[in-house]
Amino acid sequence: MREKSPVKMPDFVAYGGDWNPDQWPEETVREDIELMQEAGVNLVSLAIFSWAKLEPSPGQYDFGWLRQIMDQCAEAGIFVDLATGTASPPVWMARQDPNSLPVNSSGVRMEFGSRQQYCPSSPTYRKHARALASALAREFQDHPALAMWHVNNEYACHTFTCHCSACTTQFQEWLRARYRDIDALNRAWNTYFWAQIYSDFSQIHTPKDAPTLRNPAQMLDYWRFSDEQLLSLYRAEADAVREYTAHLPVTTNFMGDFLPLNYREWARYVDVVSDDCYPEPSRADSAHEVAFRADLMRSFKQGQPFILMEQTTGMVQWRAQNAMKRPGQFRLWSLACVAHGADGILQFQWRQSPGGAEMFHSAMVDHSKRLSRRWPEVVQLGADLQNLREVLGSRVETEVAVVADWDSARALHLSEGPTQFPAVFDGPRQWHRTLWEANIPCDLIGVEDDLDRYRVIIVSQMVIDYPDFASRLTAAVKAGAQVVVTAPTAVMDPTMRAVLDGYLGSLSPLLGVRVTDLNLLAPQEAESGVEGRGRPHPVTDRISSAVGVPGASDTRAVEVENLALRRALEGLCDPTPAIHTGLWGELLKIDSDEVEVAATFADGDLAGEPAITRHQVGQGQAWYVATDLDSVGRAALLRVLAASGRVSMRANDLPAGVEYVRRGELDFYLNHGDKAVELAGITGVDRLTGQALTGHVVLGPRSAVVVADK
Ligand code: GLA
Ligand code: ZN
Repeated sequence: MREKSPVKMPDFVAYGGDWNPDQWPEETVREDIELMQEAGVNLVSLAIFSWAKLEPSPGQYDFGWLRQIMDQCAEAGIFVDLATGTASPPVWMARQDPNSLPVNSSGVRMEFGSRQQYCPSSPTYRKHARALASALAREFQDHPALAMWHVNNEYACHTFTCHCSACTTQFQEWLRARYRDIDALNRAWNTYFWAQIYSDFSQIHTPKDAPTLRNPAQMLDYWRFSDEQLLSLYRAEADAVREYTAHLPVTTNFMGDFLPLNYREWARYVDVVSDDCYPEPSRADSAHEVAFRADLMRSFKQGQPFILMEQTTGMVQWRAQNAMKRPGQFRLWSLACVAHGADGILQFQWRQSPGGAEMFHSAMVDHSKRLSRRWPEVVQLGADLQNLREVLGSRVETEVAVVADWDSARALHLSEGPTQFPAVFDGPRQWHRTLWEANIPCDLIGVEDDLDRYRVIIVSQMVIDYPDFASRLTAAVKAGAQVVVTAPTAVMDPTMRAVLDGYLGSLSPLLGVRVTDLNLLAPQEAESGVEGRGRPHPVTDRISSAVGVPGASDTRAVEVENLALRRALEGLCDPTPAIHTGLWGELLKIDSDEVEVAATFADGDLAGEPAITRHQVGQGQAWYVATDLDSVGRAALLRVLAASGRVSMRANDLPAGVEYVRRGELDFYLNHGDKAVELAGITGVDRLTGQALTGHVVLGPRSAVVVADK
């Protein structure tokens, strides 16, 4: 099914990357074009960091060189994703108006000499950025190579907040508009704690460095404010280019689940979502990260395809250790991204830098050019993508949703305690992974999104209580949806004030339970003794050897009582595996006789207490999980939900390592494993090779087939 859109998206699967020809001599540009044609490149992002060349002095534009490059692109059949060039202002701006430079939380003004050195509130920056975007659009509006606009670059990647006096004043204005009267702010921020009471908005500063913990509610509001400041910058530039080219898509590149910017909100203002994705190749769970990120991007616009705007072909240079992608992995992850909804695969960057801070970052063309091991893979992927043209605009059908609420993730991140989870969106990410491991497609939705189309809905670590969401979720369950809610959820309101009388707030009637106590079990290391000095000796450490720590010495198992759950567990493998918990446990108060205790904590201080509950409501069921289940527990519970929700489990009998995704009419089989595998019963045509498949397919390590019926 094709999306109707007011703008014209490229009618090819985009392939290419950031290209910085202005950083190279002319003969390199000629070589670039030749290599691009060899690799099947059809879209390049131009001028992202070219402001100093586009506007060498204030108001004096020099677009001649860019026109020459764009002409060459047009001649070679390569389209351009043209940047507005505003990501890195030239030195003249810093010297003319030092206040255009951002101020960090210690009050230090950042110096010129890197990138993204602008204060989001600076009138100087705003004026020049908008003017440049507008001038570029006027200049190139009719250029045949122009296909898309790339506004700025990775907003907030380095400069998210600024603490200068202009930002402080704007923050005060923002607060005044939000709270109107200062007492409302005092209540929302609970300023009675630590004598933080304000009597006027003008007394409030951005949350700079302070002697100790800052007010989390103030931090969250400051993040919301800073996010809106940047969004307004984006929107000003997007409007400026749309004035000239209303028919062309406008985007700005996102950074996945980057908490400072609420991309679900930003997505409303881009014509196509685009993402920069750099999973760590040395982690086994990075294959999942590719899927998680892609599903998140696809879900921002209710299933509309997105563009992978940046990834690396090999390694990055900004981690302490920069592992190289393994042979085939660049191609495989790119195809996985297409399977999950990408209509284009672009890289940072086309040609590896000859110097500067990113010279050790891989590119499509490395320093050794065609000699690099990756060049054939780069060329092959270009051909693959041309063969997949029929995916354009097509959808991934889903019956399951995992809620990933931005403000909840931010609030959890900014709150002091109850514990630090291993990653942002940790709960949604773990449940998404369980679905992915079972080849069940799902969306990662926000609390405002439509719930009616889903048979299974998972709400994990949504710490903010949203009464409206709770009532829509209840309606969905009554109509037959299977819902699982996991901890910690609905423990605070949107201003980070605690939910009183039992957590779960407005979700508790649906679940039939409330949470009375949060309980953190001790990390395993606590077992090993006192401050790392070895285990206490039973004779010499007469007292301390007899002292236990919460949860460290028990198995952290849960005892399953519910029959369906037990059957599902038995069905996973032989012998039946046990379900364990992580570090999290809670005490519940059960409010209704209709609540079934489906599993209990097996031992430790929570022994015998409910770990999983089930509440039948109308046609559906609402489960509550009072712990962070391990993957066995999640998989077993998911099987129960999928069975009662009649979710199709098409491909959960594939060999280890193989991911299956259906997008539109194409079946993607992606072997992430290190071993070749055999797939049986596969007939049709492999779109990548054109080969007919007659039942039996051998998939090499890190390789894929994309099967069409004919
Ligand atoms: C980001 C930026 C690029 C480049 C890459 C390096 O994604 O947008 O300009 O710095 O990181 O990984
Ligand atoms: Zn500022």
